[in-house]
Amino acid sequence: MKILVTGGAGFIGSNFIYHMLREHPEDTIVCADKLTYAGNAETLGNAAKHPSFTFYRADISVSRAVEEIFSREKPDAVVNFAAESHVDRSIAHPSVFLKTNVLGVQTLLDACRRHGVARFHQVSTDEVYGDLPIGRRDLFFTEDTPLKASSPYSASKASADLLAGAYFRTYGVPVTISRCSNNYGPYHFPEKLIPLAITNILRGKPVPVYGTGENVRDWLYVEDHCAAIDAILRRGVPGRVYNVGGHNERSNLQVVRAVISLLGKGEIEFVCDRAGHDLRYAIDPSRMERELGWKGSVPFEEGLSRTVEWFLANRQWWEHILDGSYRKYNREFYGANS
Ligand code: NAD
Ligand code: TYD
Repeated sequence: MKILVTGGAGFIGSNFIYHMLREHPEDTIVCADKLTYAGNAETLGNAAKHPSFTFYRADISVSRAVEEIFSREKPDAVVNFAAESHVDRSIAHPSVFLKTNVLGVQTLLDACRRHGVARFHQVSTDEVYGDLPIGRRDLFFTEDTPLKASSPYSASKASADLLAGAYFRTYGVPVTISRCSNNYGPYHFPEKLIPLAITNILRGKPVPVYGTGENVRDWLYVEDHCAAIDAILRRGVPGRVYNVGGHNERSNLQVVRAVISLLGKGEIEFVCDRAGHDLRYAIDPSRMERELGWKGSVPFEEGLSRTVEWFLANRQWWEHILDGSYRKYNREFYGANS
């Protein structure tokens, strides 16, 4: 199978590429990524040495660029990770979220339709369901929970899900959608809570905690998410949505305190709350478990400890991001204008 992975130079996409190269050496991986601030060619350094890996620098919302890749590579399946992914940035600058996360998905769906691609998988998020009350631990998001986005980011992802569903029903494009909870692990960009906490503490800076720190997220180790997408790609049913999560709910304060405890140091600084801040996310993953035999396998404490170890062992990777030199690497290796 030849798989086009869009957004593969980011956090989850790169982990997925390494998962596929390891677990399915018979497959060929083509990665297309715009290399925005969140894309990092250094992350794909080892993949680039692999004979079954090809990289294109391309924007998924530019149809000519997308068409060129589809015509040349003729992928059997497309897995779309490409997105603007940070809620805080979407509050400050919403328009690029609509361009990439909605129009980019439409461009990919059109190309899949034209080329008769056997599967389009849209990597979505539990944030499309809005939020749940903190005190109601009996409530979970199921695949039938109505979409009710809170931020421009989640509204753009919900729009893409609706569009993907419409292309399945109207044109018969074989679409699957996964809605996953918060991921963490290697190659996580240090603007998100866990890598920000680790890298701030290692640089002697306090960790900013929004509001009271009581907001709850459901954390999933990234490798478990990659295995879930792999299962959906192989055994999932077109037209179906799959919720992915591991029942690892923690408040932001619990998460930051756990990082401080693993590193043996660190300060918290309470700062202004995020506008429209979602209170709690909690996924019911029983469809994935029942229908596809997938189950999250990494408990939060173990995954967090592995993640902290990874950031300690790969200091150069995140220092290149923080000092901006990763963008020079992107330019040198892929002619990026970033
Ligand atoms: P990320 O921000 O780390 O990576 C996004 C990647 O997409 C980057 O490599 C970037 O260069 C690329 N990209 C952005 N705009 C592009 C465009 N127009 N054309 C081509 N490439 C473009 O994001 P992530 O955390 O790896 O998330 C990947 C996907 O998973 C996203 O769709 C996100 O909505 C979804 N998701 C993320 C989480 C999470 O916890 N991080 C949870 C659930 C779902
Ligand atoms: P984030 O990692 O941005 O993911 P998301 O907003 O998609 O859930 O944030 C996770 C939680 O941590 C969220 O409730 C916001 C909070 N947060 C902080 O308290 N401080 C920070 O510096 C960041 C980036 C997030």
